[in-house]
Amino acid sequence: MSSAKKLDYKNVSLQGTITVPGDKSISHRSVMFGSIAKGKTTVSGFLLGDDCLSTIDCFRKLGVEIEVDGTNVTINSAGMDSWEEPKEVLYTGNSGTTTRLMLGILSGTKLHTVMTGDASIGRRPMRRVADPLRLMGAKISGRDNGQFTPLAIQGTQLTAIDYTMPVASAQVKSAILLAGLRAEGTTIVREQEVSRDHTERMLRQFGAIIDVQDGVVSFKGGQQLKATHVDVPGDISSAAFFLVAGAIVPNSSIEMKNVGVNPTRAGIIEVLEKMGADMSVQVEDENASEPTATISIKSSQLQAITIEGDIIPRLIDEIPIIALLATQAEGTTVIRNAEELKVKETDRITAVVTELKKLGANIEATNDGMIIQGPTNLRGANLKTYGDHRIGMMSAIAALISSSPIEIDDAECIAVSYPTFFEHVEELLIK
Ligand code: S3P
Repeated sequence: MSSAKKLDYKNVSLQGTITVPGDKSISHRSVMFGSIAKGKTTVSGFLLGDDCLSTIDCFRKLGVEIEVDGTNVTINSAGMDSWEEPKEVLYTGNSGTTTRLMLGILSGTKLHTVMTGDASIGRRPMRRVADPLRLMGAKISGRDNGQFTPLAIQGTQLTAIDYTMPVASAQVKSAILLAGLRAEGTTIVREQEVSRDHTERMLRQFGAIIDVQDGVVSFKGGQQLKATHVDVPGDISSAAFFLVAGAIVPNSSIEMKNVGVNPTRAGIIEVLEKMGADMSVQVEDENASEPTATISIKSSQLQAITIEGDIIPRLIDEIPIIALLATQAEGTTVIRNAEELKVKETDRITAVVTELKKLGANIEATNDGMIIQGPTNLRGANLKTYGDHRIGMMSAIAALISSSPIEIDDAECIAVSYPTFFEHVEELLIK
């Protein structure tokens, strides 16, 4: 279902405090780890976004008992060996994380499974996961030799590999590590640029012994996970939209509580600091499995910067909203080394540049990023989301500063990661 939404905000500012919903990456993993572990895992702060609900649905089809009560989730599992061969196709919706991580998990079971997702998932590359898993012995087949869904997996005994990552991708790394749980030997993954490390942290939280040093993760197969409690922090990728709104909507002042600030995710904070944002970050518990902070931000004058190299994996999902931020900064912002944007929910280089141009932004696409000249006054237009939640939210934040209304073609897609997004806009709005 998709319906257009007209966003007509004029001379508004944003003020107040919000708690952004749970982290998408951590919510997915909590259900996966809770289903693999024997016993009762409890989760609080779970993200009720469509993507994470797809993960729950897949594990229910494998026979795992999962109860959802608001943002509390309880997973009762007798362990991986108790999973049933599903009679139905596992449907992963719009979720790349579900599809890729499940591929790793299912490869080492005794089950035959088939996975498919929506049209966007059907265009996203899966060989980046299927190929290393095949080196471990996985039996995966699918369109274009396993590049695209639907994918069929015949679970089998796996053998550990020593793998050097060709791209910075936490989904690829995690799929290999999760397959490594059932593999004979020690699985080693080498990263040239460090990607988000939620899987490594959660493996430890569930009692596994894992070694991480200088971009090399190693971990012995056959370890049993112990059920536990997972407290999911707020998603910094969702907070990013209101961090940028706070910085660019005149006379704004926003506080966000319980935001996850895992260093492998917090590139947006570094960007805002470098651009000269008026922001404070109060870290709450640095030693928690996933550190959190209260972040406050006020509108201010911003300076253009260059964003490239090893920060890119730490802010890859924030680039659409950073592009909007750059349209309001003085000077030329250059974003480089971000070719991974082309294989997200949509081609985010083309989508961001096409849509921001419609608003009058001075922005050009490059092979691996974009160049943005600012500051520019933005006008209204009819914008496309391409079914991509982050393009939808970028457009909605743009509407807070545009001189005339913006209409987006599909507001529902935002529920993939931030179902209460428009409620939070309304809560903060001062007219
Ligand atoms: C994710 C990893 C990233 C990110 C995605 C979530 C994860 O993808 O873009 O939204 O939960 O591991 P890649 O691994 O493709 O970079």
